[in-house]
Amino acid sequence: MTEYHIKGNNALFGELNLQGSKNASLPILAATLLTSARSVIHNCPDLSDVHQSIKILTSLGCECSFENNTAIIDSTNADGVMIDDELMTSMRSSIIYLGAILSRNNRAILSYPGGCELGPRPIDLHLSAIKSMGAEIDDTRGRIECSTVDGLVGREVVLPIASVGATENIILAACLAKGRTVIRNAAKEPEIVDLANFLNSCGARINGAGEVTIIIDGVKKLYGTEYSVQPDRIAAATYLCAAAATGGRVKINNVVPTHLLPVLQYYSNAGCQMDIGDSSIEIAAPKKLSPVGTIKTREYPGFPTDAQPLFLAMSSVAKGTSVFEENIFNSRYRYVDGLNKLGANISGHDSVAVVKGTNSLYGTKVDVTDLRGGAALIIGGLCAKGKTIVTDSGHISRGYEKISENLLNLGAEITRY
Ligand code: EPZ
Repeated sequence: MTEYHIKGNNALFGELNLQGSKNASLPILAATLLTSARSVIHNCPDLSDVHQSIKILTSLGCECSFENNTAIIDSTNADGVMIDDELMTSMRSSIIYLGAILSRNNRAILSYPGGCELGPRPIDLHLSAIKSMGAEIDDTRGRIECSTVDGLVGREVVLPIASVGATENIILAACLAKGRTVIRNAAKEPEIVDLANFLNSCGARINGAGEVTIIIDGVKKLYGTEYSVQPDRIAAATYLCAAAATGGRVKINNVVPTHLLPVLQYYSNAGCQMDIGDSSIEIAAPKKLSPVGTIKTREYPGFPTDAQPLFLAMSSVAKGTSVFEENIFNSRYRYVDGLNKLGANISGHDSVAVVKGTNSLYGTKVDVTDLRGGAALIIGGLCAKGKTIVTDSGHISRGYEKISENLLNLGAEITRY
């Protein structure tokens, strides 16, 4: 169990170099399976989910190394088709290996990735799309066995939900398939664009990533490449919310400001001054925040669900009431109990949370339930008077690289045990 000990009520000041994106690096690592060659991936964040991905790739026959945020993956001999249960369930997003393994080896055997703290994580859209591309799928024996006799065939796939993972899986399945695949109602998140840019640098033919329709023309072979992962937009929002909540002034470097367009207006609503550079965002917070207003999470370019806990934590110390509506996941408020334990005044039901800002939070011991909820509790601890202990069974290190060191450098009194 990890503990973050925080002595709160210090405004954050200074600069931060942003980490690479967790949610871009994970599908890009899976995509290296399609090349049967050596790829060098820079700006890869040092996260437990990235190291789990490297374990999965190694188990499939890849030769992998990871040093100074550069992953080198040689998938020449990656003829494995099965991911063992422990590796599958250790990482929520492991299902995106289905398309990659099947596409390369015509066979894939995976267990179900399992639910997570945000509620059930169904994969029906992944399986139905892969099936429509010619895969035989047997999921009657507690695991997913997929195979194709003559390889996958391009199809038109209409997604009823603009699922990020399903869009990624279909792209991975389509790159080496016969013919053209068209994804309608595709997810438009920046991470989809990064995956497509990586694959196109390997010789894939993907057009329209980031838009509602993506067209992939299958090719015979993909080649190794050298690529740099995009910055992590949710980690950026995390540090900006921490700065705002503590009344500080922080500049984030190596960010793509346009990736944060869906959230920037809410910092301004709260009374923060924002200075947007080409690859930097600086936030200067007022002593006391105003309410952000009403935030409804949506698929990109709507307000990202992953930033909901961060803005909710920030709103808990504003002078007024804010309302949140979570429209992507069923149970993404489990961390609210921890914020209320710190003295926040949050109520609500189903997908709605009402946050009545309080004058101050007060340190106590709180438990992390999920990755972004854990970041919200750390933000709560940074604002609280006195000492907060945030206990974490490994959620936070899945998505945040050196979060305690980064916050320490910004003037927080935080120690990780
Ligand atoms: C990705 O998860 C991200 N994870 C999540 O970030 C993010 O919250 C989510 O996209 C939405 O933006 C990674 O990229 C590794 P979805 P994913 O498929 O792909 C339903 C974080 O904190 N659905 O877009 O699993 C699903 O239940 C994580 O970094 C189906 O019904 O999300 C959800 O309600 C948390 N059937 C909605 O779609 C399916 O087959 C969106 O899920 C697939 C999804």
